[in-house]
This record gives sequence, C-alpha cells and structure tokens, in this order.
Amino acid sequence: MNSRFEGKVALVAGGTGGLGRAVTLAFFEEGATVVVTYRRQEELDALKIAAGAAAGRLEAFAIDVTDEAAVRQLIEKILAKHRRLDAVVNTVGGYAGGMKLWELETKVFDQMLALNLRSGYALSRAVVRPMLKQGHGSIVNVASKAALDHAAGAAAYAASKAAAVAMIDSLAADLQGTGVRVNSILPSIIDTEANRRAMPKADFSKWPKPQDIARVILFLCSEEAKVIHGAAIPVFGDS
Ligand SMILES: NC(=O)c1ccc[n+]([C@@H]2O[C@H](COP(=O)([O-])OP(=O)(O)OC[C@H]3O[C@@H](n4cnc5c(N)ncnc54)[C@H](OP(=O)(O)O)[C@@H]3O)[C@@H](O)[C@H]2O)c1
Repeated sequence: MNSRFEGKVALVAGGTGGLGRAVTLAFFEEGATVVVTYRRQEELDALKIAAGAAAGRLEAFAIDVTDEAAVRQLIEKILAKHRRLDAVVNTVGGYAGGMKLWELETKVFDQMLALNLRSGYALSRAVVRPMLKQGHGSIVNVASKAALDHAAGAAAYAASKAAAVAMIDSLAADLQGTGVRVNSILPSIIDTEANRRAMPKADFSKWPKPQDIARVILFLCSEEAKVIHGAAIPVFGDS
C-alpha cells in the first residue's frame, strides 16, 4: 500500500458521489484525512461503510459548493482544525443534455454554469490564499471530454465544462512558480451506478472505472506530479 498522503489533509467536494467516493476511498488507502462535502445522508452512510476503519479519518459537511460564503467557512474550519490543506478535488458537477439550445430552459443553462463552473471557482477562490501561505497544494477540477468535443444537444454542458478548463488554465498561469498546482481532468462516460441505471443496455466494460480515474487524481495531488501544472488530462482511455 502506498502512503503518499499520510498526515495530509484532502478536501473532496462531492466526495460521496460516483467519482468522488472513489477519490475519497483512494485517499484513505494512502493515509489521508479526508473532508468531504455531501448532499444526501444515504450517500454519506454508504461511504462510511465502504471506508471501514478509515471512517475515523472522514469529516463530512453538507454544504452547497456553489455558495461562496459556505465554501469559505468550510475552508476556515478545516484550517482551524488541521492547520493544513494539501489537496482539493472538485467532483461536483452535473449533466443536462439531449436538448437543442433553443429548446433548453434558461434555468438549466444557469444550473450547468453553477455546478460545473461556479463550484470550481468558489473552491479555488477560497483555497488558493491559504495554499499560497503554506507554500504548497494541489487542486484538481473535474471537467469533461465535452469541454473539447462540443456535441449536439449539449450546449450548456459543453460550454460550462469548456469554461471550467479555461478558468483552471488561467488560474495555473496566475499561480506559476508558487508551488500551488492546479489541473483539470477530462472524463467521458464513467462506470458509475447512475450511468448504469440511465443506460442499462450499454456495454459497461468499455467505461472507465471511477477507481482508475481516482488513481490519476491522486497522482496529480502527489509529489510525483510536481512538474504537472495547468494540464487538462484526458481520462477516457481508448473509449
Ligand atoms: N459520470 C460521468 O459519466 C461523467 C462524465 C464526464 C464528467 N463527469 C464529471 O465528473 C464529476 C463527477 O461526476 P459523478 O458522476 O461522480 O457525479 P455525481 O455522482 O452526481 O456526484 C457529484 C456529487 O456532488 C453532489 N453535488 C451536486 N451539486 C452539489 C452542490 N451544489 N454542492 C455540493 N455538492 C453537490 C452530488 O449530490 P447529488 O447526488 O445530491 O446531486 C453528488 O454527491 C462531475 O463534475 C461530472 O460532471 C462525469
């Protein structure tokens, strides 16, 4: 077992969700204390069971990650308690598709921007200053292959994910030479329970597993990736 994150503290926003849960469990396996944000109690309960003994290193907060004030308060709490925050992974996001732009309700467009862009914005704004102060830190924002492939029926989603990548690229330029690293990852369809339910006839074996993507995220958060900054890394294998 690797112990790259022994004594370290990671925040996984959306850390009880399909991908977030795998990221949280991967951090536990490598010794980290993990703070997650969650929305549904049943997801948190399931994560605690999956974590087993490591659940002692789990802290959970039910906050809206698009709410800047709530995110700021959460970061203050983490720092007051642990005096450090080594990694932040944003797995909060949402998908709306299958509709042409002119059929889309504008509230759905706004939701996509909030979930896929504003979440990373609020988290980055709150954590960059403390990370600069401590002189290190890694942020990984989960975007999507759709940030590059702007398919029909997904204007709001593609736009929100493309903007998220642009934001992180620009933030990387802001942070050049500081020791604080930021990167995006670009999944396509992930083999989550929700996707299996939504597409029961698909060949699940072709979909990347959350655990495999989690390994890439942990690598990006680790010292081994100290030369990777401002990247947008595809994590869709050959699918
Ligand atoms: N799944 C895929 O095939 C796929 C493909 C490409 C990219 N991605 C991206 O990968 C990331 C993770 O996807 P996923 O499938 O793991 O999603 P997920 O299962 O829906 O997990 C996201 C988690 O964040 C929570 N959440 C949603 N809105 C929130 C908010 N405003 N504040 C705090 N928490 C919030 C969700 O709660 P609720 O469950 O209550 O909403 C859920 O627990 C997302 O950015 C997604 O866009 C996913």
